[in-house]
This record gives sequence, structure tokens and C-alpha cells, in this order.
Amino acid sequence: MVPKELLPLLDRPAIHYIVEECSRSGIEEVILVISRGKEAVGDYFKPSPALEAALERKGDLERLRQLQEISGLVTITTVLQKDQRGTGDAVLAAEAVVAGEPFLMIYPDDVMVAEPPVAAQVIEVFRERDAPITAVERVPDSEVKNYGIADGEMIADRLLRVERMVEKPDPSEVKSRLAVFGRYVLTPDIFDAIRRTPAGALGEVQLTDAFALLASERPAYAYEFEARRYDTGRPMTMLKAAIDVALSRDDTRDEMLDYLRQLKP
Ligand code: G1P
Repeated sequence: MVPKELLPLLDRPAIHYIVEECSRSGIEEVILVISRGKEAVGDYFKPSPALEAALERKGDLERLRQLQEISGLVTITTVLQKDQRGTGDAVLAAEAVVAGEPFLMIYPDDVMVAEPPVAAQVIEVFRERDAPITAVERVPDSEVKNYGIADGEMIADRLLRVERMVEKPDPSEVKSRLAVFGRYVLTPDIFDAIRRTPAGALGEVQLTDAFALLASERPAYAYEFEARRYDTGRPMTMLKAAIDVALSRDDTRDEMLDYLRQLKP
């Protein structure tokens, strides 16, 4: 099965847009935490001299440029998560490489179309507050049970001081409707918090619970980002994302518009 991170949006896999979001947000080093069976996600970013030479021979300079663009974006380090023991465990796998610095953590489940990128939006709030932060979006009651929900006090426009976070709660358990969408800026004390966090939902160590533990000990925030969000796990949203991307690119906009107009006179 193709990992969903490699499903295409127009002409590039979803993970490409995630790494591009990092690069556009000033990140220079990306660590991919990969579970067994998803090694192809890491391979996508590995330079391939044989393929590059073949493209050059064929004169396919556009694809050659695309390939080289990927490796030029950022430095990529791949870390294998040995067992799938939850999002907290995945973050721990990167501890040695992160080396004691604050870091951006992204779940690649959602591609965000935004200007500035969502990663840059949360990094800016991190710089202002100097405290851990997660990106959130308001969801309807019926969706609350599908997400980590951040609860607390709104202290500024779009900014919540987190008092608790609950993974996949019943809507009656939380007063907020702010769901976590996998863009965090974390500080190195998160690693110790993860180690102190017992297994939670699904018997896994959840980053949500570790973040909640940290938020009970020091200020931590949730920021309501602005973006069009596309869940890579849903075929219809992937199709919409592809249309959005096509409309935003100079080389594809007109053809996409013509096609859409002709579909609906
Ligand atoms: C994960 C997280 C959850 C978050 C969601 C969407 O859940 O555990 O906190 O709200 O991603 O990014 P999953 O969708 O993997 O079950």
C-alpha cells in the first residue's frame, strides 16, 4: 500500500508540501520519524544520481529541476520508530537529533494551504511567548471525538492558554471545540514530560497527554491558525487540495479554471 504521505497532490507527494512548509517557515533541518513499512517516504527525499542522469539524457529538465529542488530545500535526517507506540513515542525517537533545542513538530496528516504557512504562524507566536505552542482549529461538536482538544482560557485574539488537553474526548468532557492539528513548537522539556506520561488512548503514549502535563507545570498555548486544511487520509479532501494547488500555480491555473467552468456552465 502506498503510504498516504506519498499520495500525489497534482504532481508531488503530500509530504513534499509539508517539507516545503518547513522550508518556507525558515526551518533548515528536517527529521523524518518513520515507522516500518513507510521507508519509501524517506526514500523520496534521497538524492538519486542514476535517475537524475537519466532525466538529463532524456532532456526532461522540468522533472530534473523538481528532483533537485527537493534536496535543495532542507537537510533531511531519517529516524526509524521501531514500534508504533504513539505520537509521544515518535517524538522521543527524534530526541538525540533535536539536541536540546526548541523544535517544530508536524504530523503530516494535514496539508495546509496558507500564507504565511501555518508553521510560520506558530513559530511567530512561540517567539512572542517563549513557551510551547500547538496549532488548533475550531471543529463542530460532532468532530470533537476525532481529535485532541485543547481546553483553557482565551487570553488574546486566537490565543488560548492551555489548561488541559484531552485526546479524542466526548464533547461533554471539554468546554472548548479547539482541535489540535499537528503543528507544534516544542521545547526540550517535552521529552521528560513524555517519559513521565503514562500510556493513554489506545494504550499509546500520546503527545497530547505529555503537552497537557507540561501545560500544568508551565505556560503553554494553543493558536487558532488561518489556513485551508486538507486531510490526506480522505480522498475527497485530497481532490480538493489538488484543485486548490492547481489554482494557486501559474503554470496550471488557467487550465484548471477552464476545466471547472466547463463542468458547471
Ligand atoms: C492525531 C492526534 C490528535 C490530533 C489528530 C489530527 O490523531 O493524536 O491529537 O488532533 O492527529 O492532527 P489521529 O488522527 O492520528 O488519530
